[in-house]
Amino acid sequence: MSSFANRDVISIRDFTRKELEELLSHAEEMERVYERGGDDRLSGKILATLFFSPSTRTRLSFESAMHRLGGDVISLGGKEAASTAKGENLADTVRTVEHYCDVIVLRHPKEGAARLAAELTDVPVINAGDGANQHPTQTFLDLYTIMKEKGRIGGLRIGLLGDLKYGRTVHSLAYALALFGAKIHLISPEELRMPSHILEELEQIGAEVEEHRDLGEILPDLDVLYVTRIQREMFPDPEEFERVKGSYKVTRELIEEHARSDLVILHPLPRVDEIEPDVDELPQARYFDQVRNGVIVRMALLDLILGGG
Ligand code: CP
Repeated sequence: MSSFANRDVISIRDFTRKELEELLSHAEEMERVYERGGDDRLSGKILATLFFSPSTRTRLSFESAMHRLGGDVISLGGKEAASTAKGENLADTVRTVEHYCDVIVLRHPKEGAARLAAELTDVPVINAGDGANQHPTQTFLDLYTIMKEKGRIGGLRIGLLGDLKYGRTVHSLAYALALFGAKIHLISPEELRMPSHILEELEQIGAEVEEHRDLGEILPDLDVLYVTRIQREMFPDPEEFERVKGSYKVTRELIEEHARSDLVILHPLPRVDEIEPDVDELPQARYFDQVRNGVIVRMALLDLILGGG
């Protein structure tokens, strides 16, 4: 039986490299299922999406993945439409919804919310983002995309650009890249540096990490450039946001003049202004392929959790 069977997915730190490889390998199989239009292996199973903060890709790709495998989906429909608006707490919501479904996908603005939910129920809980903390399923699809584009992860020079302070996708991804032996280049304004506790953790697991303030100095060496937006909604102080907004931008000129032709540009999306729209036409831009991979990887994950793979 798969080690994912009936398992919570809360933090990337809960997974070994071997387990991540199992998921990536199953995603390769699931890509063929996706291309055939899906099947009905999860018929009779129900996925509940509880999103207490905004999402387009994560919620819809989980729902799409479940539908493509023949399962059903129920959704809270946002906190304003739910009894949360009447003052119900997360614990009571989870202890209610567990009777309606076989797996819960939860996004919540508070760090630790998914871990708390998982402790309250035997139904598997998948963390779809908890504050600035973790977004493990985004990392799964990021790893799959890098594998697909480059054929490996170990030894690649991977730049993480942007808001490394509040960006939960890069907090999860940096750890996973270290497990796979990539060389990590952290590129951010001083104010948006990767938090020190994550840098210390990366050091402890033997990651090769370099910090940069300027994209231009490292861009020519990169195999992958992973861009993030400034997480405006996470800033406790609006003035702090004003000081850093617009402080980095990926332009067509920059890529054409300084990047390798086989560079892969990724972005978890949504994008605001950190990648100019005309970069989309360049062969290096792969962020909409990354979106497609999100459905495939979430199909693989749901199948391993609910169906046993
Ligand atoms: N990448 C990501 O988490 O996108 P959404 O916020 O739209 O779900």
